[in-house]
Amino acid sequence: MHYKNKTVWITGASSGIGEALAKAFYREGANLILSSRRAETLEKVKKGLGEEQERVKVLTIDLADSKSFQSKTKEALGLFGQIDVLVNNGGISQRSVFEETDIDTIRQLMEVNFFGSIGLTKEILPHMISRKSGQIIVTSSVAGKIGTKFRTGYAASKHAVQGFFDSLRQELYEHHIDVTLLCPGPIKTNITKNALTGDGSSFGKMGDLHETAMDANEMVQKVWSRLKARKEEIIISSPKERLALFVKRISPSLLNRILKNSKVV
Ligand SMILES: NC(=O)c1ccc[n+]([C@@H]2O[C@H](COP(=O)([O-])OP(=O)(O)OC[C@H]3O[C@@H](n4cnc5c(N)ncnc54)[C@H](OP(=O)(O)O)[C@@H]3O)[C@@H](O)[C@H]2O)c1
Repeated sequence: MHYKNKTVWITGASSGIGEALAKAFYREGANLILSSRRAETLEKVKKGLGEEQERVKVLTIDLADSKSFQSKTKEALGLFGQIDVLVNNGGISQRSVFEETDIDTIRQLMEVNFFGSIGLTKEILPHMISRKSGQIIVTSSVAGKIGTKFRTGYAASKHAVQGFFDSLRQELYEHHIDVTLLCPGPIKTNITKNALTGDGSSFGKMGDLHETAMDANEMVQKVWSRLKARKEEIIISSPKERLALFVKRISPSLLNRILKNSKVV
């Protein structure tokens, strides 16, 4: 599979992993639709990609506003006439214990991370099904497999993403549409700064775990051949998270005991 001349719609393209994915798809010769809420930042990302600016369009979207998805998808389809790859990447994290977290904050996490991803997918599917081709990439997380402190709503949203897209994949085989779940461990982006605290305000600082984590461009470089090969799931994490995933499989209770005393911010 190659991405040259394919059209790729990326949400969360204004920063971090989405921006790094945009650079990689651009290098590969794809047409790009960059989406997130911040138009100016998306324009900066667009400018930074390279000289072939006609291959890149900006389309703002708020993933919490599901009512806009139908018209935004129509707009996106009009930009290059088709969409071959949808990258559901936009998302927010959480840093708060549940006891001090408003239910509305949990709803916000579910709205953006879960309903945002499945809502856009729902809109683009008829187009992909009619063409009998497409790839849906979803940035899940190791938090979609392992729950930790301070991430109740975030882990819930990513577990929901995992379950949803694993199920959807089964329905899409017959239409030749591939679903790729990308599951990173900590990556050095603004995710912690933008994470929601209990009252919905931003955490505002980079956590230690992310300060020393892998850079987003390096991450994309490491997963690139697997993305192109349309692997069903790609886990990209440090040896520590890989070990945690292994322990979870063989002894979930042992993992819980280890996590109880681990630093997870
Ligand atoms: N970094 C990590 O450690 C890590 C690990 C596992 C998974 N992930 C996942 O990776 C994805 C990207 O995160 P990141 O690490 O690159 O963090 P980031 O640098 O904070 O980027 C988040 C992106 O999501 C967009 N976004 C947030 N809320 C949005 C909304 N309501 N509507 C539209 N776009 C929205 C942001 O754009 P605007 O602010 O411009 O809207 C931004 O482009 C997320 O799904 C995250 O859960 C990250």
